[in-house]
Parts: sequence; structure tokens; C-alpha cells
Amino acid sequence: MDSNVRPQTMQRITTAEQAKAFVEEKVAEIKAQVKDGKVLLALSGGVDSSVVAALLIKAIGKNLVSVHVNHGLLRKGEPEQVIDVFRNKLGGNLIYIDATDRFLDKLAGVSDPEQKRKIIGKEFIDVFAEEAKKLDGIKFLAQGTIYPDILESDGVKAHHNVGGLPQSLNFELVEPVKLLFKDEVRLIGKALGLPDSMVYRQPFPGPGLGVRCTGAITRDRLEALRESDAILREEFANAGLAGKVWQYFTIVPDYKSTGVKDGKRLWDWPVVIRAVNTKDAMSATIEEIDYALLKKITDRILAEVKGVNRVLYDLSPKPIATIEWE
Ligand code: XMP
Repeated sequence: MDSNVRPQTMQRITTAEQAKAFVEEKVAEIKAQVKDGKVLLALSGGVDSSVVAALLIKAIGKNLVSVHVNHGLLRKGEPEQVIDVFRNKLGGNLIYIDATDRFLDKLAGVSDPEQKRKIIGKEFIDVFAEEAKKLDGIKFLAQGTIYPDILESDGVKAHHNVGGLPQSLNFELVEPVKLLFKDEVRLIGKALGLPDSMVYRQPFPGPGLGVRCTGAITRDRLEALRESDAILREEFANAGLAGKVWQYFTIVPDYKSTGVKDGKRLWDWPVVIRAVNTKDAMSATIEEIDYALLKKITDRILAEVKGVNRVLYDLSPKPIATIEWE
């Protein structure tokens, strides 16, 4: 039987009990597969890799070596949450690499979106491979592959993700959730005790904030993007929209306009808000945000984020506009 095909007899996981049973079954399978061997995992903090990490920590404890690479394009608080959950709460063996300078130096002056993606993808693989080489005697590589990745091998994730992890490292793969759909993976995450903010996280592109800081990325504009995104997420959570809207974020385009403050002229960036709903990311509609909430978010961004003098709301559906700006 092809291990990449979900058997027709496999029941859909819809309850906490079924999720618990799946966890027990997978823990036993993982133990049988890797025995006392060490397993390596690139832990992004996204739903899939986080669930795989929690499952493997439950099965083999510190024999899972998770590597969290901070490429400097993560959202506010993300690396801290990964460290808190996987090192402090679950007691896992986590290697944290802050590669911010390395990525931002490589990206300096690069404005072409596909070139930016290539640099981020290649640099990520290089950093991970360098780390893997330092670790002796690792035979296994865990991956957060899920069933839609297998089904839609030419779908959004595959289309956008640049490269993959280096096959040259010659690992045996451990892919415990590869036959599961996203909603099932979330239930497994819940059963493993991961926080809701991780399990119900909105999709976040591999190149991270890099494709929302349009054109050539600068540190100050990236900071404005990170801060405005944090305000948007906080206000969406307060308004009960966090789990309801499919994807919501800010963009800071590489463009300035005139403003005025305390009688002085300003020359600053706009922040664009994007909030969309979709089933499959191939088409998307715009969330009708309540005006009072839009105003509150606007006021906060203008008061709290340095270098910004306008806030805009992008009302363009997909098609014709893509979800990301780059
Ligand atoms: P677009 O912008 O093509 O985005 O409408 C559709 C979905 O794909 C995500 N996206 C990416 N995901 N690497 C990823 O892993 C990427 O380079 C990338 N670009 C876009 C986007 O966030 C949306 O969910």
C-alpha cells in the first residue's frame, strides 16, 4: 500500500477522544521507528511543525532536536512563544538560531519579490544544514507534511515554497501527520496541550514579513510592519475576529507620502490593512470590518508606530489582487 494515500477506512478525526487515540497510536509508531535514535526537525512555529514537535517530544523527549531559525521576518512575539512552549513548557531540546542579521544583510537592496523569496529560501536551507552538520549521529528528519501537501503537490504551498530541506543530508523521514487534514492536525495539537494561539494560528507565508515589506527591505520599515501587524492582531483578538477571519495582516509599501504633525511636515510610510476570507487561497473575499474597529486600529497605528502617517484598508478581492502584496 502506498503510505502516502489515506486509506478509505481511515476515520476522520473530529473529537478530542479520537485525537487522543491518534496521539497514542503515533507515539507507539514513532518509538518503534526511531528507537533510541535522534530526530531533527525544522520548527517554524506554524501549526504543522508545532504539532509534529509536540508529538515527537511526547514520544522520544530530548531525542527530538528542534531547530527554530529566526530569519528576522517573523511576527512580534513568535520566537519567544516557540521558546516558551517547546523549551520551557514541554521541556524539549530546542536550538534557537537568531539569523536576523544574516538574512537582512543578504536581502539589503533586493527589490524583486521572487529574488527575495529565493534568497530567504536558500538562506534558510543553508542555516539549517549548517546546524544539522554540527549535530552528530542524527539519522531521522521529522517533517510537518500534511495530506493537502501530498494531494496538491502543485498547490499553493508547493508553488510558493522555495526548495525544501536538503535531501543530501540523507535522513530517514518521520512524517506522523502526513495523512491528516488541517482541522485534524489542529485537534491533535489541542490533545497535546498546545496553546490555542498556536493551534488556530492563521496561515503565515514562509518568507514571512519579507513579502509584506514590499521592495527592498529596510530595518526601520520592517519594524513599522511588525508593530502595526501586532496591533492589528491584538485588536482582532479583542474583537473576537481572530479565529473567524482567515488571514489578516498589514503591509508597509516602499512609498512615502506627506503628512503633518505639530505644525511640521512629515514624509512617512502608509500602513495597509488586509483581511480576507477564503476556502483554498485560490480566490478570496474581503472581511467587512466594523467601522469603529477600523478606526480604533487606525488611531492606534498612527499613535504608536514610528514612521507612519496613513492607514489604508485594501478592499481588493482575489482575483484580481493576490492575498499578499508580493
Ligand atoms: P497569494 O498572495 O498568492 O497567497 O494570493 C495565497 C496564500 O499563500 C500564501 N503565500 C505563501 N506561502 N510561501 C508560503 O509558504 C510564500 O512564498 C507565499 N506567498 C504567499 C499567502 O500568505 C496566502 O495564504
